[in-house]
Amino acid sequence: MKKILILNGPNLNMLGQREPDIYGHQTLDDIQTMCADHAAQAGIAIDFRQSNHEGEIVTWIQQEKDRIDGLIINAAAYTHTSVAIHDALKLLNVPVIEVHLSDPETRESFRHHSYIAPVAKACFKGHGAKGYLMALDALCKE
Ligand code: DQA
Repeated sequence: MKKILILNGPNLNMLGQREPDIYGHQTLDDIQTMCADHAAQAGIAIDFRQSNHEGEIVTWIQQEKDRIDGLIINAAAYTHTSVAIHDALKLLNVPVIEVHLSDPETRESFRHHSYIAPVAKACFKGHGAKGYLMALDALCKE
């Protein structure tokens, strides 16, 4: 059975309370449940995690690199700052898909650059939680 690691970066644990006009009213638990249901229907396994710590995300990528068939990452603010996560993703020999609830390119200019994009096969942004399901579908086709 295919195993997909889904990583979420800082402040995504606050979804539901956090700027709902931008990120919607769903919590991260709601998104995890949506992903788990979708994965079960597709016959794949997911491991869904969130961290507010850059180094923890780097460590998870290193630890799981030989155990997964694909990775979905919403690195949140680290998208725009983290060479360390970029470098860790380069260790992977499996496809990486970047996801954002909002479309960062239509927001402040400091959100326009992504350190994830050069190592990602695709990016789903601006589709809200549905972007995670689109990413799962894309990885199922791999
Ligand atoms: C985000 C967009 C980022 O710019 C922001 O820092 C986030 C969330 C999104 O999902 O839209 O925390 O990754």
